[in-house]
Amino acid sequence: MDLEKYASYIGGTAGLVGIGAATAASALYLATRPSPIVPLIDLNRQSLEMSDGSNISRFCSRDGKLIRYLFDDGKTLHECFKRGERVSQNGPAYGYRAEKDSPYKWLSYSEILTHATNLGSGLIQKGLAPRPATFIGLYSQNRIEWVVTEQACYMYSMVIVPLYDTLGPDACSFIIDQAEIGTVICDTEQKAERLIRDAKQTRSLQRIVLMCTVLPALAEKAKRAQVELLSFTELQQIGREKQHSPVPCKPQDLATVCYTSGTTGTPKGVMLTHENVVSCSAACLLHLGSLITECREVMISYLPLAHMLERIVQCCVYSIGGCIGFYRGDIKCLLDDVKELRPTIFPVVPRLLNRIYDKVLQGVRGSRFKSMLFHLALRAKLAEMKRGIIRNNSIWDKLVFSKVQAMMGGRVSFMVTGSAPVADNVLSFIRCAVGCAVLEGYGQTECVAPCTLTTYGDNTPGHVGPPLPCNQIKLVDVQEMEYFAHEGKGEVCIRGPNVFIGYFRDPRKTAEALDEQGWLHTGDIGEWMPNGTLRIVDRKKHIFKLAQGEYVAAEKIENVYHRCPLVAQIYVHGDSLKSCLVGIVVPDPDVLPRFSTQNGIEGENMHDWCQNKDIKKIIFNDLISAGKEAALCSFEQVKEIYLHPELFSVENNLLTPTFKSKRPALAQFFRPQIDTMYSNLE
Ligand SMILES: *[C@@H]1O[C@H](CO)[C@@H](O)[C@H](O)[C@H]1NC(C)=O
Ligand SMILES: *[C@@H]1O[C@H](CO)[C@@H](O)[C@H](O)[C@H]1NC(C)=O
Ligand SMILES: *[C@@H]1O[C@H](CO)[C@@H](O)[C@H](O)[C@H]1NC(C)=O
Repeated sequence: MDLEKYASYIGGTAGLVGIGAATAASALYLATRPSPIVPLIDLNRQSLEMSDGSNISRFCSRDGKLIRYLFDDGKTLHECFKRGERVSQNGPAYGYRAEKDSPYKWLSYSEILTHATNLGSGLIQKGLAPRPATFIGLYSQNRIEWVVTEQACYMYSMVIVPLYDTLGPDACSFIIDQAEIGTVICDTEQKAERLIRDAKQTRSLQRIVLMCTVLPALAEKAKRAQVELLSFTELQQIGREKQHSPVPCKPQDLATVCYTSGTTGTPKGVMLTHENVVSCSAACLLHLGSLITECREVMISYLPLAHMLERIVQCCVYSIGGCIGFYRGDIKCLLDDVKELRPTIFPVVPRLLNRIYDKVLQGVRGSRFKSMLFHLALRAKLAEMKRGIIRNNSIWDKLVFSKVQAMMGGRVSFMVTGSAPVADNVLSFIRCAVGCAVLEGYGQTECVAPCTLTTYGDNTPGHVGPPLPCNQIKLVDVQEMEYFAHEGKGEVCIRGPNVFIGYFRDPRKTAEALDEQGWLHTGDIGEWMPNGTLRIVDRKKHIFKLAQGEYVAAEKIENVYHRCPLVAQIYVHGDSLKSCLVGIVVPDPDVLPRFSTQNGIEGENMHDWCQNKDIKKIIFNDLISAGKEAALCSFEQVKEIYLHPELFSVENNLLTPTFKSKRPALAQFFRPQIDTMYSNLE
C-alpha cells in the first residue's frame, strides 16, 4: 500500500492544534482527577529468566509453559471466528461503506460464514480438494471478499496465499509457479489482465475468480490464454446450489503461506500453521489485558491484509467478537472513513506517526502563541506520562490536542505499531497528543508478527517490550561483531508455537533461519534492559530497511566506494527512520597531500583539506560514479558526505581488533555530523 499518499493527505489537514473554550475545560479538569494505569506486571521486572538462559513473558506460568491458545473453543482460525459469532451473539463482524457520507454497512458473523460456505463449496465443485495441500491465491485490497475467501479457506482446510504488488514485477508469477496455485481470486480487472498475460509462462494458473463484473473483452482474453474466468458471485452461486459441510482442520495444519521479500533473490514463502497464528494472537490478547474488551472493540482495517500484522490484529478482534470496518480502498479518504467508523483500535505504521508529528509541529510554527501553548501542553503531558498517566481529558487535551484526537475518530483506546522502529520523540508525542496507549511490537513474518510487545502502562520509549507469552527469546553471541550473550547482547532468537515451520520448498533457507532445536535466528541484534525489556540495537550483516521499505546492505556499498583512490575508509550510515544514506569518509592520507598539491588546492594538513569544499565535491562525485559503475540503485548511493581527517582505528575504538568497522560506535561517534547532514538534506 502506498503510505506516502496517506501521509500527504494528512499533510492537507491544516491547523491540527485548536484553541478550545478555556473555561469549560478548566471545569472539566477539576472534575477529572487522573490516576496512573496499574500495569498487569511489575514494570521493573518484565520478563522471567529461564534456566536455559532464555527469557519469557511474566504472563507465562512459573514452569515456563508457553501459551498456545486462550480459548478451548478457539484452537484454529475457523474456531476463533466461530467463537466471535458465539460471544457477540452473532453481532456485526465486518463493515464497509460504498461512498462518502454513507454509513457503514455491517455483515454479521453468520453472514460472513454463509458467504464463506458458498464460496468454499463453489471451489470444491470446481474440483479443488478440501485439504491443506490446496493453495488459493488471493490478490486484492482489503475488502469483504478478502475475508470471505480467508474464512472459506479456513473452513475447508485450504491454504491462503496472498499476492501483492510491492514484491516486485515478476513476484506474482514466481509465487503462482512455486506454490502451484491453480486458482487466484482477485479484485480488479487490471490485476486479472496481468495474471492472464503472465499465465502463458506460468503453467499452474487455471482459474481466475474476479470480485467485479466480468466484461466480455476480458473473458475473450482469458479464453485465448486457456484460463477460466468467472465472477465471485457466480462461484458463490455454484456453491449455494451444492453446499458442502465444513472440513475442520487441525491446529498443526498449514493455514497460510505468506511470501516476504528477502534482501536478495526471490521471495520466500513463510509457512504458518493455524497454531502459529492462533498462539500469537492469544499471546497478544493476554498481554493487552484490560486494554481490550470482549464484544466492544471496533477496528479500522487499512493496512494490507497481505501482511501478517494486519491479520493478527484482526484475529484478536474476531476471537473476542469485535467488529472490523474496512476503509473505502482509497487512502486519501481514510480519515473520512475513520471519522465515520470511530475505531477503538487503530493499527499504525511508523511513517504515519512521523507524518502526524511533522504536521502538528508545522501547524504551530506559524504562530508564536500557538507554539508556546503547544510546547507548554506537551511538556505538561510528558510530565504526566512519566507518572504513568495517559489520558485524553486533561485541560491540555481540550485546549490543544482535541483536533488530533478528533482526527483519529475520537475514541481510540490503543494504537499498535510494528514493522519498523519509531523514533523516541515521535512515540512520546503521539502518546501525549492522542492520549491513548501506543504499543510497539517487534517481530517478523517467520514468527507470525510480534514476538515482543510493550506493556500497557509502560510509557518509556527506546525498547520493544518483553517477550510475548507465546515465545521464549534468547540472545546468542555474534563474535565477529563483539556482541556477547553474557553481556546481555546478541542475535535475537525466538522459539515457541508461533515460530513458522519453514520456507515453502526452500530447505536451504529454512536451515539458515531455523536451527535443530527450533530456534528462529532473526538476524537482529538485541540487548536486554535491566527491567526485562528488549532493545533492538543493530542488524547482523548490517542489512537494514530504509524508511520507504528498501533493504540496504551498507557493507556492500562501502566495498564499492572503497575503490575510489582518494578514500581510505568509509562508513555508510542509514537507518529505518530515514529514507536515504549518508557517509563518513576518511580521505587517504597517503594520496590526498599529493593530489591537493597537483590540483592547486590550498591547505597544509588533513584537517585543512577535509574542510575544503572542492575536495569534498571531488570525492563525492568519485563515490557516485563508482556506485553507478557497480550498478548501485539510487537509494543505495549516499546523498551527502562528511570528510573526517583521522583514520578509524582500534585505539579510538571505531574498529574491532580484526579491523572491522564498529558500526554502532561509529554511528554514536559521528552522531552530530550525521544529524547535520540529514538536516541539510531535508
Ligand atoms: C478518551 O479515552 C477513552 C478511553 O480510552 C475513550 O473511551 C474516549 O472515547 C476517548 N475520547 C477521545 C476524544 O478520544
Ligand atoms: C527499563 O529500562 C530502560 C533502560 O534502563 C529504561 O530506559 C526504561 O525507562 C525502563 N522502563 C521502565 C518502565 O522503567
Ligand atoms: C532476562 O531479563 C533480565 C531482566 O529481567 C536480564 O537481566 C537478563 O539478562 C535476561 N536474560 C538473558 C538470558 O538475557
